[in-house]
Amino acid sequence: MLSNILLSSAAFIALALATPIHHSNPAAKTVVQLPAGSWLESLAVRSNGNILSTSLFGSTASLYTVVQPAFHAKNSAEVLTIVPGVQSLLGITEVPNYNGKETFFMVGGNFTSLSPLATIAGSFKGFKVTFSSHGKVHVEKVSNLTPDAAFANGVTAIPGSPGSVLVTDSLLATVGRLELSTGHYDSKAFVFPEMAAPEGSPLPVGVSAVRVRGSYLYFGNAARASIYRVKIDSKGYLSKGARPELVANISSVAPGLDDFVFDAEGNIVLATNSPENAVVHVDVSTGKSKLLIGGPTDPTVPSSTAVGFGRDLLDTHTIYVSTGRNLTDPSSGAKIVAVDTRLLK
Ligand SMILES: *[C@@H]1O[C@H](CO)[C@@H](O)[C@H](O)[C@H]1NC(C)=O
Ligand SMILES: *[C@@H]1O[C@H](CO)[C@@H](O)[C@H](O)[C@H]1NC(C)=O
Ligand SMILES: *[C@@H]1O[C@H](CO)[C@@H](O)[C@H](O)[C@H]1NC(C)=O
Repeated sequence: MLSNILLSSAAFIALALATPIHHSNPAAKTVVQLPAGSWLESLAVRSNGNILSTSLFGSTASLYTVVQPAFHAKNSAEVLTIVPGVQSLLGITEVPNYNGKETFFMVGGNFTSLSPLATIAGSFKGFKVTFSSHGKVHVEKVSNLTPDAAFANGVTAIPGSPGSVLVTDSLLATVGRLELSTGHYDSKAFVFPEMAAPEGSPLPVGVSAVRVRGSYLYFGNAARASIYRVKIDSKGYLSKGARPELVANISSVAPGLDDFVFDAEGNIVLATNSPENAVVHVDVSTGKSKLLIGGPTDPTVPSSTAVGFGRDLLDTHTIYVSTGRNLTDPSSGAKIVAVDTRLLK
C-alpha cells in the first residue's frame, strides 16, 4: 500500500516534470522590456556596472544603457546615443587599456530583412565609443570595414594589442582585424573552412562570435552549433601553421549559437538565439554543454543574442542576457534579463 502510494506519487512527479514549465524561472528577472518589434543584438557591461546594449531592429541604430541594474529594483533602457549612417547596430565590446579613456567598439550596418536574412553589402561600419571622465559619451566612425562586408556581427578586443579589435563576418565566413588608431582593416585576418556555414544550411550564418583567451582565438559558428579555437601569438596574430580545433559541438543541446563569454572558471556561457531561446554552459575542457535557462517554448529569453556577467559588487554572479524577440509573436519585443546563477541548480 505504502509502496503503491510512493510509486504513484513518483509517477505523478515524473509526469509533472515531463510537462514543459511555462511559468517564469525564479533565477530570472526581466530588467527592461522594450516595445513590440524591437531586437537587441549585443551587450557589454561597463566597469561601473551599467549595461550597454545595441539595437538591431525597432529603433534606428540606438545604443541603450541601463544604469546599475544591480542597485535598482526598477530599471529603464535609456537611449545613450543614436549612431548616424547605419540603421542597425550589432556586436559591442570593451577595448581595455586604450588611450586612457573608457573605450568600446561596435559594428553596425543595414538589414532589409531578419528572416530570411538580408543585408546591404558594404553598409557595415565600425565605431569607437568613448566615455569622458564625466561620463559623456562620444561615438566616432573608425572604419567602413570592406566594400564586400556582408554581415559584420561579433566583435572582441585583443588584450595583448590595445586598440586592436576583431570583427566576424557571418556571411563571408571571415574574421577581420581593425586597428582603432589608424583605421586599418585586414578583412581576412582569419579565414578557415570552420568559419563557414555548411553547404546548403537553411540559415547560412557561419562565424558569429569571437573571444581571445590565453593563446587562443575562440570562435562560434552558428550554423555548425560549434565552438572552435585556433592558436594565436601574444599580439593576436595567427600562429604559423595553426589550424582550428573543435572545442565543443553543442548540437545535442541547441541547434545554433550566438555571442558567448568566459565565466570565472574559464568556461563558456553562450546565448543560443532561436529556436532554442536559451543560455548554455560549455565546459571547455570536456566539451560538454548544458542548458542553464530557457528552451524552445520557454518565454524567459526568446531569441537570446548575447550574455555578459555583472561587474558591480552585488551582481558578479548575474548573467545579463540581451534578447531579440519571439519571432512568431508580433506583439513581442526585446528585453534584458538578469539570471542569478546561484539560483540555477
Ligand atoms: C544605411 O542606412 C543609413 C541610415 O538610413 C543610410 O544613411 C545609408 O545610406 C544606408 N547605407 C547604404 C549603403 O545603403
Ligand atoms: C556536431 O554534432 C552533430 C550531431 O552528432 C553532427 O551531425 C555534426 O556534424 C557535428 N558538427 C561538427 C562541426 O562537428
Ligand atoms: C512565441 O509565441 C507563440 C505565439 O504566441 C507561442 O506559442 C510560443 O510559445 C512563444 N515562444 C516562446 C519561446 O515564448
